[in-house]
Amino acid sequence: MKHTHYIRQSRLFCMYRNHVLDIGPYLVGRKSLELGPNKGFLFEKFYPQVPSYTLVEPNPHFEKFYVKLQRRHRNLHYKISGFENFQTDETFDTIVMMAVISHIPMEPSAMVDKIDGMLNPGGYLIVETNNSKRNLAVFDLCEQRYEKLVVKPSYSGLMRRLKIDYRDVLIYKKPA
Ligand SMILES: C[S@@+](CC[C@H](N)C(=O)[O-])C[C@H]1O[C@@H](n2cnc3c(N)ncnc32)[C@H](O)[C@@H]1O
Repeated sequence: MKHTHYIRQSRLFCMYRNHVLDIGPYLVGRKSLELGPNKGFLFEKFYPQVPSYTLVEPNPHFEKFYVKLQRRHRNLHYKISGFENFQTDETFDTIVMMAVISHIPMEPSAMVDKIDGMLNPGGYLIVETNNSKRNLAVFDLCEQRYEKLVVKPSYSGLMRRLKIDYRDVLIYKKPA
């Protein structure tokens, strides 16, 4: 059984994913960048607790959700762009990539170099694995470069037993 992006972005499912992930310690108080955020709902509960949160998403359909979110969260920024075309002079304390690595049309080493260039020393990279095999080398390269702090299944309890899918979430730390 495969769930849809719609379900993943529903309020209830976002609450559940937040509960499983316990990602707060890696976001709160940290300037953050999220790639491929879809509607941007997943980590909304942390937006008030970050100095600045930037969404980078190529699908213009989601812009209307970001405009609404910005009314509630003045520190929310967004760019409609694929990561491969995203350019910035800013660097970030945390970069979030949930179920997005397989979607980015870049060579794995170029992708990891680009992430690394935007991640501050001592910063966290939070990634969710793919259901497809595309760009899996990104994970090997992260293992070589960063310290792996956390590996946990994306789902727990009943949801895990239902075998909806087999993703894991990994949290890496860049050396300070
Ligand atoms: C499987 S969805 C995951 C959505 C969300 N991160 C989540 O975990 O629910 C993949 C997301 O990546 C976005 N995406 C696709 N190509 C991308 C690219 N080149 N750069 C950044 N994001 C991309 C899609 O539009 C979509 O929002």
